[in-house]
Amino acid sequence: MNNFSAILIRWYTDNKRTLPWRGEKDAYKIWVSEIILQQTRIEQGMNYYLRFVKRFPNVISLAEAQEDEVLKYWQGLGYYSRARNLHAGAKYIVDNHKGLFPTQHADIKKIKGIGDYTAAAIASIAFNQAFAAIDGNAYRVLARVFGIFTPIDTSFGKKEFQLLADEIIDKYQAGTFNQALMDFGSLQCKPHHPDCNNCCFAHFCYANDKQEQELLPCKSKKIQQKKRYLYYLQIENKSYTYIKKRDKGDIWAGLYEFPLLEYSENIDIEQIIKDKNFTDCLFDCQWKIINISIPIKHQLTHQQIFASFVQIVVTNGEPKFKKNIQKIQTVDLQKFPISRLMELGIEKQME
Ligand code: ADE
Repeated sequence: MNNFSAILIRWYTDNKRTLPWRGEKDAYKIWVSEIILQQTRIEQGMNYYLRFVKRFPNVISLAEAQEDEVLKYWQGLGYYSRARNLHAGAKYIVDNHKGLFPTQHADIKKIKGIGDYTAAAIASIAFNQAFAAIDGNAYRVLARVFGIFTPIDTSFGKKEFQLLADEIIDKYQAGTFNQALMDFGSLQCKPHHPDCNNCCFAHFCYANDKQEQELLPCKSKKIQQKKRYLYYLQIENKSYTYIKKRDKGDIWAGLYEFPLLEYSENIDIEQIIKDKNFTDCLFDCQWKIINISIPIKHQLTHQQIFASFVQIVVTNGEPKFKKNIQKIQTVDLQKFPISRLMELGIEKQME
């Protein structure tokens, strides 16, 4: 074992977190935990993980479920393609591996939604295969300790880090090494103000020596933020309301929401009322707007969303929609998977 590995694993033995999937050897459950933890904080992910594996304890139960139910268990976690990919992956394992999770890294990587990181995490933690799983935490630790300035968001940068990690990984305790690197990154080598005075790598860490912690890791580009302005038509027609399932190819695919008007700039309510999509659907009815929520800001990786909920009461007639809009009893709304943003909008209208 090399020096880095030995120090890291000693640190992990003394400092590791107690997590529901720690010590887990079931590849399916490790898969679920890793997918939940992409883009989600551990504290938030834990309850979701426990509820998910209780309802879907194995590949077969997940493969047999309806997509709406899987999304309902994911509601509030965001990045819903993760849940759809898990579901599709479970079906793939049933069709191609008789429902048994594949045991080889190359076969694991063929499952939908499993990339280099997740395949390495599962292969190492469940089957002790020596593949380094490099997540954001691992990039930060390696960049700082070894002083690597190659940008981590480039293919050559990713290759360089992978080569280094594959070289220093403890081949006999690969799963432990990977998890140690993740815990070390999130507990000790934090993005900002890491506690370098009490660090087991302080004596040979490049960033600590040069005081360049905040410069590492490097990225080549700044993320471009797109702004989207959403106006949800929360229509109340006696005890009914209207919802639509979101299409594939955009955020929240497969989730349900109120009829939506979307713009690329902020506009006022007078313009919305004149919008043909608005007038077409309420053309034949009498209606009034009883509330417009202040915009709720929702930050995603590449987009900033500002959503307002326009509460409309129909007093006479029936709204007409182009297609795919369902009329439902308002009390049944809670049975459908919806985004956290929709939840927030509904909560705010009830305040
Ligand atoms: N982040 C993602 N996967 C993790 C794991 N298995 N342990 C700790 N942090 C993680």
